[in-house]
Amino acid sequence: MVEPTTVAIVGSTGSIGTQSLQVVADDPDHYRVVALAAGRSLDLLVSQARAIRPEFVAIGDESQVADLRDALPAAIEVAGGEAGLAECARRADVTINAVVGFAGLPVTLGCLQAGKRLALANKESLIAAGPVVQKARQTPGAELIPVDSEHAAIHQCLRANDVATRVSKIQVTASGGPFRGMTVEQLAEVTIAQALNHPTWSMGPKITIDSSTLMNKGLEVIEANELFGRPAGDLGFDLALDDIEVVVHPQSVVHSMVTYSDGSTIAQLSMPDMRLPIAYALAYPDRYPVAYGGIDWTLLGTLDFEGPDREAFPCLDLAYAAATIGGTAPAWLSAANEVAVEAFLQGRIRWSDIGDVNSAVLSGHDGGTGDTLAGVLQGDQLARIRADEIIRDRFVL
Ligand SMILES: NC(=O)c1ccc[n+]([C@@H]2O[C@H](COP(=O)([O-])OP(=O)(O)OC[C@H]3O[C@@H](n4cnc5c(N)ncnc54)[C@H](OP(=O)(O)O)[C@@H]3O)[C@@H](O)[C@H]2O)c1
Repeated sequence: MVEPTTVAIVGSTGSIGTQSLQVVADDPDHYRVVALAAGRSLDLLVSQARAIRPEFVAIGDESQVADLRDALPAAIEVAGGEAGLAECARRADVTINAVVGFAGLPVTLGCLQAGKRLALANKESLIAAGPVVQKARQTPGAELIPVDSEHAAIHQCLRANDVATRVSKIQVTASGGPFRGMTVEQLAEVTIAQALNHPTWSMGPKITIDSSTLMNKGLEVIEANELFGRPAGDLGFDLALDDIEVVVHPQSVVHSMVTYSDGSTIAQLSMPDMRLPIAYALAYPDRYPVAYGGIDWTLLGTLDFEGPDREAFPCLDLAYAAATIGGTAPAWLSAANEVAVEAFLQGRIRWSDIGDVNSAVLSGHDGGTGDTLAGVLQGDQLARIRADEIIRDRFVL
């Protein structure tokens, strides 16, 4: 009997976190959860920990550490803050980073620097701290397997070819979100409830709003560039940023594609179900024994593809611009976007202001290189302050 792979789930109370718990529970012979962590949802974290009995539990909000300790059996070690989150990642063979936003960076770095496998849903950490994360990826034993469905698809499509230099383009698919086909004038009137009503995926609020603005797709282009666009590990390809294209595909069945030099395009298809890419990242290079997202081809119907509307959804091109500038520009854009999305969800700005805030912050980028963690943290802070100022001065309803 082979020992089960030990798993840490950081962000266990969220959409990806709870689906990760389901995936692991479906194959108890192969996986054992040894660490859990969340941000602030104490009650849910406690009930998860009581049911699973991991060795280690952490909460991001340090003011709740004492309550967490009181609520759990003494045998379970408890910690808090960034150090607690990073420690989770050191305790397991594989860490699923399911934290939302820049707050996931200590988990990404803690896991890679410990030479462990990172199953990465938290795209913001890779986008904001690209050069620092790339260095951490070089740690012996470190491995980064994407959980984002598009990047999991690309990862699978790239395995179809042995000669890396024969990859000519990557097509990242986008559902188009709830506002696909709307004009700039119509978009000026959309509400929070409409923006949260994603047509094909059920996800946490931040990524759902990002999907409605196409910022999510822009962030995914930067993510793909970091993962596949430069020599990085055994799946590193020397692709230019412009070789990473976005294709709108409203059914969310084709999760992304890779086109090779001979004209062949390899695509990965499944029904929209995040448990599949979570399971893929856990089992790679094997495949999980339980099927998620299987297709009933008799019911599938048509698959449509179209180009994105770059005028109505300017966040997409802001991401290309940030990736072209490089350094801390992606960190600035991602931080500004976190602030703007939060302000939108609080009713402080309109949906269409999100792109304007992001654009204004990015245009003030200070040329920071982001080669060090301190530089990334400073860039993130500066961009948040700038986004707050812009929202206060120009956009309050
Ligand atoms: N949902 C999807 O289908 C999907 C698909 C692809 C990629 N992703 C990516 O996966 C990540 C998670 O998305 P989600 O939709 O699962 O978000 P979510 O439902 O909002 O969950 C976010 C998780 O992060 C935790 N968290 C927030 N701030 C934290 C902090 N400071 N310290 C520690 N934990 C913190 C939350 O804990 P509390 O609730 O306890 O505060 C929660 O467990 C994002 O980067 C997203 O882009 C998601």
